[in-house]
Amino acid sequence: MTNSLITGWGKCLPPTVLTNHDLESLVDTNDEWITARTGIKERRISHVGTADLATVAGKRALAAAGLPPADVDLVSVATCTPDMLLPSAASLVQDALGATNAGAVDQNAACSGFLYSLIMASGMVDGGVIDTALVIGSERLTYLIDFTDRGTAVLFGDGAGAVVVQATDEPGGLKASELGSDGAVADILWAPGSGTGVNRMELEKDHRLQAIAMNGPEVFKRAVTAMGHSSTRVVKEAGWALEDVDLLIPHQANVRIIDATARRLKLDPAKVFVNIESYGNTSAATIPIALTEALEARRVKPGAKIVFAAFGAGLSWAAAAYEFGSRTEPLGESDAELPPTDGDVMRLLADNFAYYGGGPGS
Ligand code: ACO
Repeated sequence: MTNSLITGWGKCLPPTVLTNHDLESLVDTNDEWITARTGIKERRISHVGTADLATVAGKRALAAAGLPPADVDLVSVATCTPDMLLPSAASLVQDALGATNAGAVDQNAACSGFLYSLIMASGMVDGGVIDTALVIGSERLTYLIDFTDRGTAVLFGDGAGAVVVQATDEPGGLKASELGSDGAVADILWAPGSGTGVNRMELEKDHRLQAIAMNGPEVFKRAVTAMGHSSTRVVKEAGWALEDVDLLIPHQANVRIIDATARRLKLDPAKVFVNIESYGNTSAATIPIALTEALEARRVKPGAKIVFAAFGAGLSWAAAAYEFGSRTEPLGESDAELPPTDGDVMRLLADNFAYYGGGPGS
């Protein structure tokens, strides 16, 4: 029987860093508070768009799988920050990669988006609809950040991660999954002026309608419940015991949410992958970036039993019990790089300050 497996992985982090100390000059906050309440020390700010980040991550994932772009049947980009509404970021990526035989689609489930896309692509491969998908999570979330709002300014960053999902004869792959949504509480985490549902004259009067607005404690509470319950359910549905789990790769939104999920799974901290300190919350990109770094750090062994879990705006959530394949080394490396930048973070954010307000010392 055909079986889908992750055979390639890659990431792309823009080089410009915004530290907690930098944020102290923008909002009433401090490194101690951010570190203790979120686990974040720094995040990246992109000088390029979502599709460019996605393209570099995608090239690196294809190289790791040893596949030419022409072998890809589907380019799926999970993002809530596409470069534009038309065309999709995926179409731009498909062209930039030279994936001439691929279909292309964006998927938006906010921070849960990558896991939704991975589960859907795996199902398409398992069902024989396609042989090879390039599944990317890519975000330029800081575009939607009002740096006068300390409740959101400290949390988010930019980046991309990608995996290749391929048909193989090897055992493993997706063993159980859960997708969920509670649209009744959509307004606890949203950017109401970021689409076509806003009156343009209202937006002109208040640009902050376009920025991410959040009821942090309410999101926190629901995230802990959704991640904890869905993770334990997929472990059970996969027929695994809790002690069978080798690694939890959770969405990186807040280290306290990750700790609560790990406690629910009764997991030793050594079995939990955390890199939030370096990148903050990159939304749909956190899980593929974390998976790539877990592989680079040799924390994914052949046949590893991995739990992925995510939540995001919607509120949406997703979880998967995933058995990794036998190959945990990349077959090749790509020399793809982003164009250079001078790394001046305040210059990159000047557009946000001009639009939403704020800036150094304001
Ligand atoms: N710096 C300093 N103080 C702050 C900051 C800040 N950046 N932000 C809030 N505070 C203050 C508050 O004003 C409050 O002060 P008060 O007690 O005098 O009123 C105090 O700190 C506690 O505030 P809370 O909001 O209750 O703090 P909490 O512990 O809940 O942490 C946080 C806030 C980090 C936002 C947390 O609620 C959280 O992580 N929520 C989930 C966010 C999340 O994961 N979002 C996912 C987005 S995914 C997507 O789809 C885009």
